[in-house]
Amino acid sequence: MTDRDEQAPKGLGRGLTNYGDAGFSLYLRRSFAKSMGYSGEMLARPIVGIADSKSGFNNCHRHFPELIEAVKRGVIAAGGLPLDFPTVSLGEVFLNPTSMMFRNLMSIDVEEMIRAQPMDAVVLVGGCDKTVPAQLMGAASADRPAVQLLAGPMMPTSFRGERLGACTDCRRFWAMHRAGTVDARGIEEIEGNLATTAGTCAVMGTASTMAAIAEALGMALPGTAAIPAVHADRLRAAEASGARAVALARAPIRPSQVITQAAVENALRVLLAIGGSTNAIVHLTAIAGRVGVELSLERLNALSDATPVLVNLKPTGAHYMSDLYAAGGLSAVLRELKPLLALDALTVTGETLGERLAREEAEGATWVDREVVRPLDDPIEPVGGLVALFGSLAPNGAILKRSAADPKLFEREGRAVVFRSLDDLAARIDTPELDVRPEDFLVLQNAGPKSGYAMPEAGYLPIPAKLARAGVKDMVRISDARMSGTAYGTIVLHVSPEAAVGGPLALVHDGDRIRLSVKERRIDLLVGDAELARRKAQWAPPLGRPARGYAQLYMDHVLQAENGCDFDFLRRQADV
Ligand code: FES
Repeated sequence: MTDRDEQAPKGLGRGLTNYGDAGFSLYLRRSFAKSMGYSGEMLARPIVGIADSKSGFNNCHRHFPELIEAVKRGVIAAGGLPLDFPTVSLGEVFLNPTSMMFRNLMSIDVEEMIRAQPMDAVVLVGGCDKTVPAQLMGAASADRPAVQLLAGPMMPTSFRGERLGACTDCRRFWAMHRAGTVDARGIEEIEGNLATTAGTCAVMGTASTMAAIAEALGMALPGTAAIPAVHADRLRAAEASGARAVALARAPIRPSQVITQAAVENALRVLLAIGGSTNAIVHLTAIAGRVGVELSLERLNALSDATPVLVNLKPTGAHYMSDLYAAGGLSAVLRELKPLLALDALTVTGETLGERLAREEAEGATWVDREVVRPLDDPIEPVGGLVALFGSLAPNGAILKRSAADPKLFEREGRAVVFRSLDDLAARIDTPELDVRPEDFLVLQNAGPKSGYAMPEAGYLPIPAKLARAGVKDMVRISDARMSGTAYGTIVLHVSPEAAVGGPLALVHDGDRIRLSVKERRIDLLVGDAELARRKAQWAPPLGRPARGYAQLYMDHVLQAENGCDFDFLRRQADV
């Protein structure tokens, strides 16, 4: 415990409402707290806040009432007082233009409510894609002791002899529908069988990746990342998280002590080894940025070349998250990665990562299903799932998920077929007159952070209908957008600087040649400097400044992908 922790008021005495008389403020607060029926003994306990992101607009969190009851049980049994509070919730498919626009808003909400309310520690309860990054960003900035409790993944469904799970299968069937092999009636039946339980998407999409990252960072309890949402172990994890938060209230370990350079690199190793979502690069960068830890794309490449893919899960492999849990969970992955990890990284349990792994080994908790988690010396892929590309088309970087891409497309040059915006894409992609061939590169402009679309998951450009019907399954696709963690294909994302701020992507014309080399980590626009300068002189921003409100705040302050798309005023400067 630091001097700062020892001297700070605790429980209800923390951060008093300012009436100019501290005694009066505390008396009034206790009086109003008593109106909720708490005894004096309960009000004297350490207070654990529970940040609840349940919402009628968030299917992934529909089990949170039960989960939060279990957290409360754990808090009370450990001698604390649990007080839950609502925050913004981000249900991935219910938000316009995209949940990404509101991740930073949720992080501000979480940060300020942790700081403003009198809690000694907090349990963050989240799961759907942007909620866990937002909670970790907020908690890191508030820097009050925090434990991340994950929603847990959905279960896959058995449907006509096949296992289905959101949302890799969602995309697979939709692609078949577009190609004409699944009719409208068929797609309606599948619609009712893709997502059938509470919890987050059932594959290694963004939510599952962020769950793994939360555990690898040391912010979630050991072994909790992959527990299915509907498994009784999830409730036991909730109870344990509540109990742990009480211990943290008594002997604080702050997020800034856990989210260190070493922990962030451990999380990056895990992200690469699980074949995780491209979105996680943006989110991990933003979380790290809140405590002054830098995560560079050059470092990503260095780690990617030295971290094999070990986990056989969709969208890059065959299995679902519930299979990973049954196969040994993230512990099995961490054990394999042990020689590559910083084992002295502290976790919220008070153990280091190395102590955790040693304890699990001593307890004999080491069973692993090698069909799902491969050994380090016999990996699925010898190198990591994600790489950063640089070049004249992306001076500040771009991301390719090579583990979800077709290696036959990795070293090639192609003709650009350009779409100026998402609306342009929707209007023309399926028209018979679109001049497009299978070897072309599809380019989408103006879908980045400042595009007005707020960097949606639109980088998975559909294969033009006439090519899809002819059997084309993959093409090189390039944009400043993001891609769902459940998607797959040879897709270059997060191109920076984005088109909407005049990056080179904005200057690409139909028919230009683009060269991709994954081996050299390059993406280059093969157009001469004089011609690019001429185009740049004619370029104008696609949008004006929003007139008011959050949209204006967002547009004025959102950073590019390599800075995690955080707001400039929320990142902690290293020298602060
Ligand atoms: Fe919530 Fe996929 S929609 S995790």
